[in-house]
Amino acid sequence: MFSLLIEILATFFMVTKEIIVAICFVFVPPPEKSVDGEIVLVTGAGSGIGQLMCLEFAKRGAIIVAWDINNEGNQTTASLVRENNGIIYTYTCDVSDNIEVHRTANQVKKDVGDVTILINNAGIVTGKPFLQCSENELLKTMAVNVYSHFWTLKNFLPAMVQRNHGHIVTIASLAGLIGASGLVDYCTSKFANVGFAESLGLELMKDNKDGIHTTIVCPYLIHTGMFEGFTNRFDMLFPTLSPEYAASRIVKAVLTNQRLLVMPRTGYLTTAVRVLLPVAAVERLTKFTGGLECMEGFVGRQKMK
Ligand SMILES: NC(=O)c1ccc[n+]([C@@H]2O[C@H](COP(=O)([O-])OP(=O)(O)OC[C@H]3O[C@@H](n4cnc5c(N)ncnc54)[C@H](O)[C@@H]3O)[C@@H](O)[C@H]2O)c1
Repeated sequence: MFSLLIEILATFFMVTKEIIVAICFVFVPPPEKSVDGEIVLVTGAGSGIGQLMCLEFAKRGAIIVAWDINNEGNQTTASLVRENNGIIYTYTCDVSDNIEVHRTANQVKKDVGDVTILINNAGIVTGKPFLQCSENELLKTMAVNVYSHFWTLKNFLPAMVQRNHGHIVTIASLAGLIGASGLVDYCTSKFANVGFAESLGLELMKDNKDGIHTTIVCPYLIHTGMFEGFTNRFDMLFPTLSPEYAASRIVKAVLTNQRLLVMPRTGYLTTAVRVLLPVAAVERLTKFTGGLECMEGFVGRQKMK
């Protein structure tokens, strides 16, 4: 009984401390760690925020390992990094294919060494209502957006665990915290990203691996082209993010070991509202904010090409 009381008091103290620290970090920027010499693997490095994150990490002295299914985009990333005197290794890899991920990961270990910062960023979106998605499209969305995280972690986490050193970054989405019409397959995959990363963080905590950090990233709309045609009815409240801002904010979250990054900040409020209000009320608000029709004008990247 006495030990339970001590445990309750200690937990209360730690929870209060963490809340105070989090509030302080809103006003005083937290210290940033060095990534000089760290081996940073970015999947989906050939365009969008993946490309920009490679540049940001390279400028800070990290060794970049860039994976993408699109070799042309990856080579553009390599040129940009090298123009900035960065070090980069590029690999063409379909992250949805576990055999290809294992093979490429072994090659990276031989060529560069053990990855210490893993950024699971590659992602796709069909942009179709559920019944219009073929079974292959549904499977592909899950394979690229979710299963790829299993395969990369299976290959790179063991060395991090052995050294108790590393950082795992999961690029999810605000669509991983709240549902959206026209994005059933995408939301399924992004909710899975959040569940995966959150649970993995707890397993690392259980095993006392405090040297391995996790960051879950949940951005709203980013102007990369992936969601071309998406209607953003309340741009004032939920501004579309520039790719440069999104990438630099993610890198900053890694440097400060931030556990969860929701962008823009109004996304935190939306998430709280979602769990606090009755479902019917949330649905009304979603309708009002244009959440039912937002994908009607979607063209995305594939159709753009
Ligand atoms: N753009 C947005 O509005 C937005 C919002 C929230 C979250 N996100 C997420 O951010 C991440 C990056 O998105 P982006 O906007 O930079 O998109 P993007 O289309 O510019 O980049 C995605 C990259 O992933 C690569 N890729 C796709 N399938 C692959 C595969 N099977 N194997 C390896 N690489 C593959 C593509 O070639 C591309 O280079 C995605 O996970 C996306 O879901 C994007």
